Amino acid sequence: MSALQKMMGWIDDRFPLTATYKAHLSEYYAPKNFNFWYFFGSLALLVLVLQIVTGIFLTMSYKPDAELAFASVEYIMRDVDWGWLIRYMHSTGASMFFVVVYLHMFRGLMYGSYRKPRELIWIFGVLIYLALMAEAFLGYLLPWGQMSFWGAQVIVNLFAAVPFIGEDLSIWIRGDYVISDATLNRFFAFHVIALPLVLIALVAVHLVALHEVGSNNPDGIEIKKKKDPVTHIPLDGIPFHPYYTVKDIVGVIVFLMVFSAIVFFAPEMGGYFLEANNFVPADSLKTPAHIAPLWYFTPFYAILRAVPPLFGSQFPGVVAMGLSIVVLFFLPWLDRGKVKSIRYRGPIYKIMLALFLVSFIGLGYLGLLPSTPVATIFAQVFSVIYFLFFLLMPWYTSIDKTKPEPERVTG
Ligand code: HEM
Repeated sequence: MSALQKMMGWIDDRFPLTATYKAHLSEYYAPKNFNFWYFFGSLALLVLVLQIVTGIFLTMSYKPDAELAFASVEYIMRDVDWGWLIRYMHSTGASMFFVVVYLHMFRGLMYGSYRKPRELIWIFGVLIYLALMAEAFLGYLLPWGQMSFWGAQVIVNLFAAVPFIGEDLSIWIRGDYVISDATLNRFFAFHVIALPLVLIALVAVHLVALHEVGSNNPDGIEIKKKKDPVTHIPLDGIPFHPYYTVKDIVGVIVFLMVFSAIVFFAPEMGGYFLEANNFVPADSLKTPAHIAPLWYFTPFYAILRAVPPLFGSQFPGVVAMGLSIVVLFFLPWLDRGKVKSIRYRGPIYKIMLALFLVSFIGLGYLGLLPSTPVATIFAQVFSVIYFLFFLLMPWYTSIDKTKPEPERVTG
């Protein structure tokens, strides 16, 4: 017995290292027909690690103080060794996180990955998405630029629209009557420790739930239903390691090429990843002419603005915006289709999914623009389609003419 084997034996007697490695990697059987859409889960993990590592280094030089924050970011950009790289990796990582997660979620919609038995994977996913939005919003206040300040002002003021308790609620969140040093300190605490812990815990349970039931696949059929009678290994399954660990590296390389191109050549991405106004220090006396959130929030911002105020209160819009995310939790029970994957769905689901996609992107675009009467009408139409996609789902998925699913996974 080699020294290494002896050491492994020693560890295994005390900790299930080999057993865990086998259960989750070398003897975890994943469907053999994953396509590129299955890269985005592992890419989301990669971005999470990148954000945590670059975040730790940023924290070493950043000062969470309204007097010092803006200058400390400039100091990181100009004086700290490789500070510019760390900061641009973190700011680009924030946007790329959403790119990856949106594609990951869309894959779920295409292949019915939220359906039984994966409801909890999906629910944990939606919670991750909420935590991610909170994390991005809190982080955006930290550079203490004009957009940090006024963006936070607008969003925290939305809570003030809640009837009866709204005013107190918004003061409680800010810790002051306006966005101030107190707000910056608590946002910093949540951004650097509280929410990252929540995110890591949610990702862990997301993966535990995934490994309990096994991955879905582009055909939307359960590989566990057809097992080898002797080995009990799914006939269409292949060990995650080495097959998918190696395949995922291809995704990682392509992703890092895109990521590096942005970090090195266009870190501001024309104002979409870093806004010009945020290179101006926060000024509580000077409201910017046009306040818009970063691109990943704009679909929801457009829904908020599409709903007309009631008796001067923005509350109905706030409710619509909240519901547009809450509705995602119910998706596993709204879909009554006989098949899971888009490959075997009927024309109605395909049309509805296409309309949903167009509406979501349309809302995202409109949310970037100042609101005009024409833009508002478009936003209203898109918002209605957004909700109808979910609310009519029990009906249109049950009448849709689906194709029969294959017995075994296809190419
Ligand atoms: C930090 C964010 C996230 C990470 C690190 C993450 C990680 C992963 C990983 C590694 C997988 C397995 C590989 C794959 O299927 O691509 C997976 C599967 C899955 N994730 Fe996520 N995820 C995240 C966010 C989300 C969100 C926001 C949702 C939905 C709202 C979601 C829904 C799902 C579903 C339904 C599956 C199963 C897919 C299938 O088997 O077809 N995830 N996730």
